[in-house]
Amino acid sequence: MSRNDREFRIWRGEGGEGGFVSYRVEVNEGEVVLDLVHRLQATQAPDLAVRWNCKAGKCGSCSAEVNGRPRLLCMTRMSVLPPDEPVVLTPLRAFPSVRDLVTDVTFNYAKAREVAAFVPPAGLAPGEYRMRQEDVARSQEFRKCIECFLCQDTCHAVRDHEENKAAFAGPRFLMRVAELDMHPLDAADSTGLDRRASAQDSHGLGYCNITKCCTEVCPEHIKITDNALIPLKERVADRKYDPLVWLGSKIGRRPRD
Ligand code: SF4
Ligand code: SF4
Ligand code: FES
Repeated sequence: MSRNDREFRIWRGEGGEGGFVSYRVEVNEGEVVLDLVHRLQATQAPDLAVRWNCKAGKCGSCSAEVNGRPRLLCMTRMSVLPPDEPVVLTPLRAFPSVRDLVTDVTFNYAKAREVAAFVPPAGLAPGEYRMRQEDVARSQEFRKCIECFLCQDTCHAVRDHEENKAAFAGPRFLMRVAELDMHPLDAADSTGLDRRASAQDSHGLGYCNITKCCTEVCPEHIKITDNALIPLKERVADRKYDPLVWLGSKIGRRPRD
């Protein structure tokens, strides 16, 4: 087991007011960034605020920025960081700072509530739903989401444009709309809800210019852009510009892919 000391520069403060504080801390082979944050809490900074829960990449709580990149602190090995530079830890930039590394992610829960829930098919009770694996294979990938909101933090449409937040749901929740639109049993149509139109009109799909930054930071390796957002854009375009689809919607029948 090898040991060495590393410099950490951690943003400390409350409500957006604060600055960087430097620490030196012992690092052991195999450790992740969250181990070092815990060691600092135990030895030098007992009041350092950080959110975490599982330490296994599954709860999505420990999201922060390491050297400016959105990451899970518990899944970032020290060995992947440049060995000769300080490790810089900052809170998620796209959301309001609460204290130190903790941010207020209320925005994401508000956007989650704006996506209309799955509409069960008429005439079937829970337990009677039947789907073939091939019909759910595409959207099953999206269910791996741990709601860490790293994709929401990195998306420039949110990160650099506070003014877009009201109109733009962000990649995680556009992916949720895509999942429901692909769901073989979702009966949203029967209630008059057009999920494709709502993606564009209510959830801001047009703000996405498919840069794929969200995909690059997803710790679950979900291909958010290629498998959810681009297909959703294609389905929205089909619906908008195909005259037969338009006619179908006018006479109450909506062809599906
Ligand atoms: S692909 Fe779209 S949603 Fe993802 S980061 Fe880029 S603009 Fe944002
Ligand atoms: S899609 Fe990936 S990056 Fe976005 S919230 Fe889910 S797990 Fe996190
Ligand atoms: S502590 Fe749960 S994902 Fe990091």
